[in-house]
Amino acid sequence: MGDAMDGGSGVVDAGDDDLQAAGAASFDAGRFREVLGHFATGVTIVTALEGGEPVGFTCQAFTSLSLDPPMVALAPGKSSTSWPRIAAAGAFCVNILAEDQEALSRDFAVSGGDKFTGVGWRPATNGAPVLDGALAWVECELELAHEAGDHELVLGSVRGMGVRRGRPLVYYRGGFGRFEP
Ligand SMILES: Cc1cc2nc3c(=O)[nH]c(=O)nc-3n(C[C@H](O)[C@H](O)[C@H](O)COP(=O)(O)O)c2cc1C
Repeated sequence: MGDAMDGGSGVVDAGDDDLQAAGAASFDAGRFREVLGHFATGVTIVTALEGGEPVGFTCQAFTSLSLDPPMVALAPGKSSTSWPRIAAAGAFCVNILAEDQEALSRDFAVSGGDKFTGVGWRPATNGAPVLDGALAWVECELELAHEAGDHELVLGSVRGMGVRRGRPLVYYRGGFGRFEP
């Protein structure tokens, strides 16, 4: 494995183990975000109806988990004020955002306030909001929430889902983008 550090930028050329090359026994949060930010993902808004009120937050840490039975996983932060309310509802909807929903994802990433003012939605069979314009949605029952550092690891059993034509909103290196096939 060649030593391929290019001029102190900290970017290690392909083939080298970053930590090994950098000789780092430990690493700071900024470095962690920078490296993990290279994993491009879609963006979701997780919603529920709690005490008759819609609640939701923007969530990138989402994945399909099991096919049979159908399950998904997501990771809400312990600082989230929306997640405890969603957990209390026991059922939620994961709205997978379309490419024209960047503004919505930013709005639902701001803690507090009424995020649903002016936002169109219809209730899923479990009552959770399916947001107008979402590219796809997955209705879930909360199965398990497990403490995981400064976040929780949440498992949901899929009870319903839907999709429409369109392209996804993408998140990469701290910025929003579009997907061109
Ligand atoms: C693109 C993007 C992705 C995010 N992904 C997550 C995530 O995976 N988990 C999480 O807890 N917060 C995530 N956030 C931050 C939350 O959306 C934000 O902390 C939350 O909405 C705060 O509001 P709340 O107090 O109403 O929960 C993300 C924010 C943005 C803009």
